[in-house]
Amino acid sequence: MSYKRIEISKEALAREEAIMERVAERSAALPSPPLALVDTYGCQQNEADSEKLRGMLRRMGYEMTSSEAEADVIVINTCAVREHAEMRVLGNVGALSHTKKAKPSQIIALCGCMMQEEGMAARIKNSYRHVSLVFGPHVLWRFPEFLDRLLRGEKRIFETAPSEGVVAEGLPSARDGSVKAWLPVMYGCNNFCSYCIVPYVRGRERSRMPEDVLSEARGLVAAGYKDITLLGQNVNSYGKDLSCGVDFSDLIERIDDIPGEFLIRFMTSHPKDAGEKLFSTMARCRKAARHIHLPFQSGSDRILREMNRRYTRDDYLALVDMARSYMPDVVLTSDVIVGFPGETEEDFEGTMDLVRRVGFDALFTFIYSKRAGTPAATMPDPATREEKQERFDRLLALQNSISEERHRQYIGTTQRVLIDGEEEGRLTSRTGGGRLVRIEGADRQLIGSFRDVKITGSNTWALYGELI
Ligand code: SAH
Ligand code: SF4
Ligand code: F3S
Repeated sequence: MSYKRIEISKEALAREEAIMERVAERSAALPSPPLALVDTYGCQQNEADSEKLRGMLRRMGYEMTSSEAEADVIVINTCAVREHAEMRVLGNVGALSHTKKAKPSQIIALCGCMMQEEGMAARIKNSYRHVSLVFGPHVLWRFPEFLDRLLRGEKRIFETAPSEGVVAEGLPSARDGSVKAWLPVMYGCNNFCSYCIVPYVRGRERSRMPEDVLSEARGLVAAGYKDITLLGQNVNSYGKDLSCGVDFSDLIERIDDIPGEFLIRFMTSHPKDAGEKLFSTMARCRKAARHIHLPFQSGSDRILREMNRRYTRDDYLALVDMARSYMPDVVLTSDVIVGFPGETEEDFEGTMDLVRRVGFDALFTFIYSKRAGTPAATMPDPATREEKQERFDRLLALQNSISEERHRQYIGTTQRVLIDGEEEGRLTSRTGGGRLVRIEGADRQLIGSFRDVKITGSNTWALYGELI
């Protein structure tokens, strides 16, 4: 399989730069800086995109606000993965008609995955007249141009033509934190799991050049970031489209070579592409966090086949054994879907059994949500919502007891943690495996440092400890 990798030209990006400068001059001439709000739904990929939107807005002279009433520009970066998130977006957008009425110059923009869904842009055009800009993830880099056109009086802009996807380098980014950073290494997905909308809205897999990833990683380390998460829908496919001889494991190894104390995380790994090379690289690289998020989705071979996941439950269990043989202390987390069309009680028991056998440290459980246009949307789905909810509750109770037990095993041990914040008078931190540790004492000076902590208590969701 080979897809055309569309990298946005330097000239096109320079045009956007020039527009940002022009808008910045306009902002500087106002009595006070204009205000912007960027609201994000969905996954880390969207978080990273929102940081770019904020980066571009800052470059254009905007300051950030959390007030919808005061904002001159509101951008809502949407997610399409489940219906629930979409309903929330549409509800919130509907409510913004009031702020727009009170402040007619306000620009309301919608972007992200939902905008790329068939029929969605038309629905916004007709039913949400107060929205003046709609654009998909493939043209995120053109946001300055869209904003400029609206500021010069254009009424409404809709840019959601389908695309296999682009790579745009060098966009400014205003990152949310100072300790943890997202670092996208690839975009899109080729897997077409039968329930999932992502490949349709995010386009085909395309990797950033290794030197672009590495130079961003070096910049993050130099800026003091201590926890870098490499992002992609399926990071194990990294580099396959580049034929440059660098795969995902090689990339981890090169980032690990950057001097400094920091952690390298990544998500997400698809089980069909994870294996020996990845695990041995993680085990060897000192900065690679001992954590793998490895979604299994179902413990039934029949359902896995219907989902088009391309592995069996035995393949999955063997993979877990292999990971643990390289890293006995590895933290394993996963995603699972309950109530996929046609899931029987027996299929669900397969899921419960897999969860018991693996003993995940944490699990993200989702009830199947029908996505129009995906193959699963046309499969017969006889189970009722109540049956699905009942299975979901059983799975959650099982996982909670497993998480609680696994956390209890930390008591009495010493853990190296990265202190990343403060909450309710306690410091918060994460182990290399990503477990949350709340620490007595609230010396904010410690935020951003690695410390050894003695674990003294635990519950289902967190560990408690004292600085050594
Ligand atoms: N690329 C990642 C996951 C992206 S979506 C991967 O393959 O691991 C995050 C999670 O949302 C998925 O792992 C899946 O468990 C869940 N998900 C995706 N589509 C869904 C749907 N239609 N209904 C319910 N959950 C879904
Ligand atoms: Fe969706 Fe599957 Fe791609 Fe993950 S791997 S984004 S679940 S299609
Ligand atoms: Fe949602 Fe798009 Fe991420 S659909 S999960 S925001 S890739």
